[in-house]
Amino acid sequence: MPDSFTRTVKHLGRLFLSKPMAEPVEMAGRHVIVTGASPGSIGYETARILAEWGATVVATRVRDVVRMASSLKDDLRRHGADPDNITAHRLDLADPDSVNAFAAWYRGRFHGKLHVLINNAGIHKKTLAPLKTAPLTDDGFEIHWRTNYLGTFHLTRSLLPLLQRTGLESGDARVVNVSSGLHDRAENEDLFDEGPLSNEEPQRDEPTRSKEPRYHSWDSYGKSKLAMVHMAFEIDRRFADSHNLRAVAVHPGVVMTNLTLPQAFGGRMGKALHRISSALTSLVLLSPTAGAQTIVMCASRRPLQGGRYYERCAVAESSLDSQDPEAANRLWDLSERWAGTLAEPI
Ligand SMILES: NC(=O)c1ccc[n+]([C@@H]2O[C@H](COP(=O)([O-])OP(=O)(O)OC[C@H]3O[C@@H](n4cnc5c(N)ncnc54)[C@H](OP(=O)(O)O)[C@@H]3O)[C@@H](O)[C@H]2O)c1
Repeated sequence: MPDSFTRTVKHLGRLFLSKPMAEPVEMAGRHVIVTGASPGSIGYETARILAEWGATVVATRVRDVVRMASSLKDDLRRHGADPDNITAHRLDLADPDSVNAFAAWYRGRFHGKLHVLINNAGIHKKTLAPLKTAPLTDDGFEIHWRTNYLGTFHLTRSLLPLLQRTGLESGDARVVNVSSGLHDRAENEDLFDEGPLSNEEPQRDEPTRSKEPRYHSWDSYGKSKLAMVHMAFEIDRRFADSHNLRAVAVHPGVVMTNLTLPQAFGGRMGKALHRISSALTSLVLLSPTAGAQTIVMCASRRPLQGGRYYERCAVAESSLDSQDPEAANRLWDLSERWAGTLAEPI
């Protein structure tokens, strides 16, 4: 598990290397979903580039979908592309009704065609110091696990029949899971501890339970991202040969987005400090356009090697734990069982 120092040095070193760019590919006739495409995000640039290359793109976010849509359409017009290549829709991965409603809407609107599902949406509610208890969603799960992994699993499972059918008809369907280099903070045993797929109250007399603060958002974020790698590899193992459905996981790099933007403070002094820290941060992080390149490459390059982890537009090494097919298979089966408890899609 590389430490933060090694990680930072590696990132800074790469800033001086050339930034790999995805080669443009004709995408007309290909249907793509990009989750988490708010302005200023990696998903926004991913949706914009693929729509500019001719794909029919559905972009999602939780809040202010109208602003996202008009901004994306304006960008397409400015670049001489058809603004109708983009449709926007609300999607909240942590809300099963929202996922079901989105999947039903998509099926009806696009007649069952889906060539590429880009599972990009994600959160990191950063904590600077350990907390006593984990922040939970309304249905009682740790928030990163629920949003980044379980919600994405639910969405993918709901759209799987479309991906499989499109894979059989067109010979090429894909799932691109946006993970993170931080997936290596977690180990496989973390995925199965304390029943992460169950929202039951943990046992009070559990011997490992301590009263000391022990919740680290970075570990929980890493755990959700390890699960995203497993999910991608497992989809590829299960459906590449039978349905021409390939899946990969991606680390986009360390990118200046809403997720990495320094926290805003109140007051005039706070605002000035925020402006300065944002300007400094932008010097050492990739732009969202650079951060989108590996995702765009995985969504478009033909052929693509599935069941792999990509970084800087090339196959890279993911953690040893992420390469364990037994853990991936077990996680898939548990996730399936959990998803089976949710209300049926409309
Ligand atoms: N930035 C980095 O350095 C970096 C590094 C490695 C990996 N990543 C990964 O890259 C992906 C994109 O992140 P980003 O940096 O572009 O962050 P961002 O600018 O914060 O974008 C995150 C997107 O996810 C959406 N989202 C948040 N909660 C959601 C929910 N409950 N359901 C559905 N969508 C939700 C947000 O929508 P709203 O705006 O409407 O809330 C937004 O569109 C994430 O998976 C992140 O973990 C980022």
